[in-house]
Amino acid sequence: MNSTRFKLGKYTNTLTSGSASWSSPSNIALVKYWGKKEHQIPENPSISFTLDACKTITEIKFEKREGDQSTFSFEVFLDDMPKPDFHPKIETFFNRIEAYLPFLKEFHFTIHTQNTFPHSSGIASSASGMSALALCLMSIEKQLHPALSDSDFIQKASFLARLGSGSACRSLEGDLVVWGAHPEIEGSNDLFGVKYPYKVHDNFKNYQDTILLVDKGEKQVSSTIGHNLMHGHPFAKQRFDQAVGNISKIKNILESGDLEAFIALVESEALTLHAMMMTSMPYFILMKPNTLEIINKIWSFRQETGLPISFTLDAGANVHVLYPEKNADQILEFIKSQLVAYCQNGHYICDKIGFGAKQS
Ligand code: DP6
Repeated sequence: MNSTRFKLGKYTNTLTSGSASWSSPSNIALVKYWGKKEHQIPENPSISFTLDACKTITEIKFEKREGDQSTFSFEVFLDDMPKPDFHPKIETFFNRIEAYLPFLKEFHFTIHTQNTFPHSSGIASSASGMSALALCLMSIEKQLHPALSDSDFIQKASFLARLGSGSACRSLEGDLVVWGAHPEIEGSNDLFGVKYPYKVHDNFKNYQDTILLVDKGEKQVSSTIGHNLMHGHPFAKQRFDQAVGNISKIKNILESGDLEAFIALVESEALTLHAMMMTSMPYFILMKPNTLEIINKIWSFRQETGLPISFTLDAGANVHVLYPEKNADQILEFIKSQLVAYCQNGHYICDKIGFGAKQS
């Protein structure tokens, strides 16, 4: 697939001012994206559950500029407070997407954004934040070019979100999204995320994700640096091949509802992600002692009760506890009584599978 299809050509409308607003959720990968090529092209395909409660709400107001249009013009507010430290990321994003949104320098943008989860929770806001921003910009393009179809709109929004942050391209739709070309997933490609197109067993409907906030500090290693450490990594090829194999496996698991196989695959993916970090050069450990305490408790509880509780991790110390809705009462009781003690200030977030971004 070629990215030039995302260049629309001449717009049919002219605008002087207006606004656009979207809320977009975070997502949690089951098969992880770790390693990318130039232009945010992933080294391997990944698949994620779209989340529901953890989201970013963004509103952009735009106004036609007079005079010099050689640079981007925008201001950004988080919870109504000016946020100049967001500028470099947005500037980089605008530079990457300008070729696809030729109106970017013609307007001044006032961006107001807020997250439903605390900013200092250690939860990455790049997936929800970049996808919400990309959707707002696409709504502006739609106002300039109303003929744009719904499917082209969502694909281009995911394409743009990817250029902001790779995993962001998996946040627009739900409940499962695949990003990265895979021979067994129809429509899958490296440029944008696609809604998982096959049958999903009822066991996975409304799957629960309780996020245990073990460490709310700033990320020790930015994900871009982490991805780059996969270049020349001694196990890179094996890892990328493994991810391709795991997408094939998870397709069968999602259809059959085999929770035991699901648990084994998802936990192995999480630990492999961290193993890649531990075996890169330079190497790093993002898990904390409490991350391991929680993992061990989950394993003992699973062994004792036979309940299908599992975990996954992002590039950090927080633990996502995953379980079917039908076991939610017992498992949440266990989480509250045994795991929350390992969270920083006892903080955790109850989330579950969601269905993607919404215009507001
Ligand atoms: C560990 O999407 O944050 O969460 O493309 O550099 O912005 P950039 O990286 P990012 O990487 C996320 C990696 C991960 C796994 C995943 O979500 O698949």
